[in-house]
Amino acid sequence: MSDKKTSNQMWGGRFASGPAAIMEAINASISFDRKLYAQDIRGSIAHSEMLAQTGIISAADQEKIAHGLNTILKEIEAGSFEFSTKLEDIHMNVEARLADLIGPSAGRLHTARSRNDQVAVDLRLWVKDECFRVAEALKGLIQALLERAEEHAATVMPGFTHMQAAQPVTFGHHCMAYVEMFSRDLSRVRDAIERMDESPLGAAALAGTSFPIDRHATAKALGFREPMRNSLDSVSDRDFALEFLAMAAICATHLSRLAEEIIIWSTPQFGFIRLSDSFSTGSSIMPQKKNPDAAELVRGKTGRVNGHLVGLLTVMKGMPLTYGKDMQEDKESVFDAAETLDLMLAATTGMVSDMTVNAAAMKKAAGSGHATATDLADWLVRTLGLPFREAHHVTGRAVALAEDKRVSLEKLSLEDLQSINPGITPDIFSVLAVQNSVKSRTSFGGTAPSEVRKQIRAWKKRIAKA
Ligand code: ARG
Repeated sequence: MSDKKTSNQMWGGRFASGPAAIMEAINASISFDRKLYAQDIRGSIAHSEMLAQTGIISAADQEKIAHGLNTILKEIEAGSFEFSTKLEDIHMNVEARLADLIGPSAGRLHTARSRNDQVAVDLRLWVKDECFRVAEALKGLIQALLERAEEHAATVMPGFTHMQAAQPVTFGHHCMAYVEMFSRDLSRVRDAIERMDESPLGAAALAGTSFPIDRHATAKALGFREPMRNSLDSVSDRDFALEFLAMAAICATHLSRLAEEIIIWSTPQFGFIRLSDSFSTGSSIMPQKKNPDAAELVRGKTGRVNGHLVGLLTVMKGMPLTYGKDMQEDKESVFDAAETLDLMLAATTGMVSDMTVNAAAMKKAAGSGHATATDLADWLVRTLGLPFREAHHVTGRAVALAEDKRVSLEKLSLEDLQSINPGITPDIFSVLAVQNSVKSRTSFGGTAPSEVRKQIRAWKKRIAKA
């Protein structure tokens, strides 16, 4: 009884008029696909021009159509356009308004076209534009990292594995690791642009059209390299959106790792960096606190970007060719991932430029935890000719002795070290200091400041051209 009442109450709410209201609510996409208005109008103008050029519609009709569409563009941009849920989506909203404005000629625009190729071309244009935005933002972030790397090419910090101090590295080298990661994201976004640079317009509903259209002309007019070669594929795949989301998820994951490091580095326990008030907040009740909120939000927002990738993969995985209304669910994932990624990139670039590096704290941490133990072992191999395994064993004993004496490895006396291996000479101290350890790692891609500076120079040139 009470169950029945509850469901009746629901029925009486938003969906009071019953099935029609429910259908309208589930079917409409205008609340989000209005974002495609500029692409929709661009696509329609290109289509109408091609229809006139091929003699499918008259030049007079085309002029009216183009004029009407430009008026609609202005109305939408001025905020005076009235979007209607009854008209379902952006395509029908624009077309209905066109009919208001220019009368029956409006009906000729949809010749040799379907909403299926229309929505596919609109979304491709949008995603392509967004990819260019992301590429620019990535370049900005890479440049910010290069600047910090240059400044700190010789600033020693502990390098970690398992979150345990492993070997000394430089902060510049660490920044350059992210330059490499974000550069791969940049190349991923460029690759994705290459592949999505084909126009689906003219595939019509799914099978092509009997009208003598010119798909090469519309592809060119819309800035695509060429038309897609298969009409079924044109209206049914969304792999360009998936590639964008996959790139976004990988990039967000990189951003999240950097955010996590920023959070750790800015704790009082580490004290490696300080964020200014622009990128942190105080606590309302604990006056000593400075919270790295922006970094935490970059880390947190990665969840939704990654979720959108899985969301759209799941929408697409069971779709038989060609179009199905399921695919209307592609847009919110793409729009939200794009907006989120843009913000994450801006916040990260801001934090990288903004943070103050505490070189003294980094150096102190690099010197603790016997981080130059590997250097000692390498010295034994190089100078005394010990096999590495034996050198490792000797070094282990030196570390144990240092622990016993509660000093760092480099503070052991020569006599201490010689008690473990009599062959050790004072030259050993040249490798036990963190600065020297770092300087000696001159292998290609290693942490030596000279190596790091080479990489910085190379990347600066590459990015200037990218
Ligand atoms: N709003 C639709 C979408 O986003 C447009 C395409 C509708 N096509 C159709 N055959 N009902 O996918």
